[in-house]
Amino acid sequence: MDSIEIIGGERLDGEVIISGAKNAALPIMAAALLARGVTVLHRIPRLRDIHTMLRIFNHLGVRGEFIDEDTLEIDATTISACSAPYDLVRKMRASVLVLGPLLSRMGKVRVSIPGGCVIGPRPIDLHLKGLQGLSARVDIEHGYVNATGSPLVGGEIYLGGRYGSSVGATINLILASATARGTTTIIGAACEPEVVDLSEFLNRMGAKVTGMGSPRITVEGVDELYPVEYTIIPDRIEAGTYMLAGALTGGLITLRGARPDHLDSLVEVLRDVGINISREGELIMVQAVGDLQPVDIATLPYPGFPTDLQAQMMALLSTIPGISVIIEKVYPERFMHVPELNRLGARISLEGAAALIRGGHRLSGAPVMASDLRASAALILAGLVADGKTTVRRVYHLDRGYERMVEKLTALGAKIKRVEED
Ligand code: UD1
Repeated sequence: MDSIEIIGGERLDGEVIISGAKNAALPIMAAALLARGVTVLHRIPRLRDIHTMLRIFNHLGVRGEFIDEDTLEIDATTISACSAPYDLVRKMRASVLVLGPLLSRMGKVRVSIPGGCVIGPRPIDLHLKGLQGLSARVDIEHGYVNATGSPLVGGEIYLGGRYGSSVGATINLILASATARGTTTIIGAACEPEVVDLSEFLNRMGAKVTGMGSPRITVEGVDELYPVEYTIIPDRIEAGTYMLAGALTGGLITLRGARPDHLDSLVEVLRDVGINISREGELIMVQAVGDLQPVDIATLPYPGFPTDLQAQMMALLSTIPGISVIIEKVYPERFMHVPELNRLGARISLEGAAALIRGGHRLSGAPVMASDLRASAALILAGLVADGKTTVRRVYHLDRGYERMVEKLTALGAKIKRVEED
């Protein structure tokens, strides 16, 4: 199992190019299953989760392969199976995104129920509610969801949940309703940019989706969708992670290819902290100058502060003198990184879904264990400013969601390397 070694204390300077968004690429790949023919997707990041989706496609008899560095070709002319097995779904929860398209195209689908994960319980009740709202019959048996329904029929469906909107459930319902009979209205829809990108992709294919980006989305069913060529949006979480790396280490970092309009909440919080941020077209410049201030934040669905940047933000706040508070409202148990940051010298205590960060204490390098994707990034960020050597173990999590992170940080001046272990 590989690990990453970082020698802390280097100032990061320079430019970093932002990759395509994993969380837009996965639903858009699932959407390609709706078109008979060859779909071509550009700016697809080379990540483990993308390869897991390709393995599911392989299981479905759908050819999907990279034809150059970041272009993926998917041939869904025929689909020979309509199931996603446990062995693949357990590797990546986003596998459940094939539920909607397979049901809509094949009239039936069988997908393993993903379990919980280290960031807490992650039910799929809202996904199933969405499908039932289209008159599908949904049963759960032997750990699998079995859904049937042909034709699916549009309806008005409230999708708000206990923790707000659901990105995945909104996406599954849009995918299932694109070719349903009649009109579907989704109330309490997720407003994330990835939902908007998926909707725009579907509209290029011939779908009629309106209202995306707002909590009320309308999908007018069409008879057929056609394969198209499309370029997905840049990854706002990757961009945010490099902005936080710049804020932590000083120096001037320029992000190229990011969408500043997708990062408003982070920009606002970083400005409150005292970081200089300027934007010029598709460039974002980040520089920490002078004293930084503690802040109180809560993670929320978009356009609120993203839960996927909570751990990395915590790494920054643990270096700023004073008390900061983070309340995790999307995944109240998503704090596995806290004990590991504390091993590096941070002083963070937890009270329910709130983390109290007594910042400004010196961080010192140590071996730490990554528990999940974003926690891995947070530990690497902390390692960049900790004295001496930090070794982050179990970095296979990182490979799920950050394209060439070690190379990108090295180019910015970090002392970081990947070490192969037995
Ligand atoms: C997506 C992102 C993930 C991000 C999350 C929240 C992808 C592939 N992953 O995950 O990186 O952390 O959004 O921004 O895009 N919930 C229910 N019932 C459901 C579905 C969700 O109660 O049926 C709850 C979840 O437990 C959570 C909240 O709703 O508390 C939001 O989850 P959701 O938006 O669905 O997350 P994902 O789409 O799985």
